[in-house]
Amino acid sequence: MQTHLHGKDLIDLQEWTREEVDTILDVAFQLKRERALGIPHPLLRDRVLAMLFFFSSTRTRASFEAGMAQLGGHAQFIESRTTQISHGDTAKEIGEILGRYNDGIAIRNVDWGLGNRYIREVAAASRVPVLNMQCDLFHPHQSLADLMTIMEKKGSPKGRTIAISWAYAASYQKPISVPVDLARLTTRYGMNVRLVHPPEFRLPEDLVAQAAENARTSGGSFEVMDDFDAGMKGADIVYAKSWGALLTAKDEEDGAAIAKKYTDWIADERRIAMAAEDAIYMHPLPADRGIEVADAVIDGPHSVVYDEAENRIHAQKAVMALTMG
Ligand code: CP
Repeated sequence: MQTHLHGKDLIDLQEWTREEVDTILDVAFQLKRERALGIPHPLLRDRVLAMLFFFSSTRTRASFEAGMAQLGGHAQFIESRTTQISHGDTAKEIGEILGRYNDGIAIRNVDWGLGNRYIREVAAASRVPVLNMQCDLFHPHQSLADLMTIMEKKGSPKGRTIAISWAYAASYQKPISVPVDLARLTTRYGMNVRLVHPPEFRLPEDLVAQAAENARTSGGSFEVMDDFDAGMKGADIVYAKSWGALLTAKDEEDGAAIAKKYTDWIADERRIAMAAEDAIYMHPLPADRGIEVADAVIDGPHSVVYDEAENRIHAQKAVMALTMG
């Protein structure tokens, strides 16, 4: 177990060793148990986390803020449009200044081609750890919660088959960060990973190559498929969600037009029936109900989406306690 994590940024989980990720998961399960037993764990008393959002959020904001309170500290909500960021505060200034007021800086910036770069620029200027609350490429705290959920529902992830599939959504061009991170994390844990999407929804080649290499090293497998039904066949975990055609579309409008070719890519009862009998259905939320996933699936017996959402807080408390303690 690697425990020397104080001061470490969490921007890309792939930059953390497997032993370090194991430590996060161990601590997350411990904190979850303690919370259930009513055992207080004020590990970050008097510590403050800055939460800087450039994009909307329900779960991430609420779970980081509640998590800091449960750890005995405080989280301050900062929104780009209502601060002087909108008038020119630079990433370097944000890192320098918020780093002097706080014990950690968490950032969500999903702007395509910019988000990850922005977070790294803040981190380079910050004296305290920087946590990625989702960028254009990665959503590490979501993937940690997802892996926790898989472990709780299925035991050891090794040898389990997960279908990470694209699904149609009409609401907006969702970031690619969830499938990118989930594919790269589950392949590190020996899972058989199917990444399923229409050709226009491909993910960055270098990140897909990392997933393939992870699978080779862990003894799992990794396959890219373009047939939703085939991807579902016998899967233990169905993780079907939408993302934008960000590598192929010219703009938002073009992306929406491309997606419209695939409105039949919905996680419905017919498709869930193709998975293993005891398969679980996962989604990070928010979902386009009736479009991306049928109500009967997301509200049905296979769905674990609320346990998955709950695990956000436990995973994030572990990361904060380990890096900001
Ligand atoms: N899953 C997730 O990150 O949810 P929010 O966008 O509501 O934070």
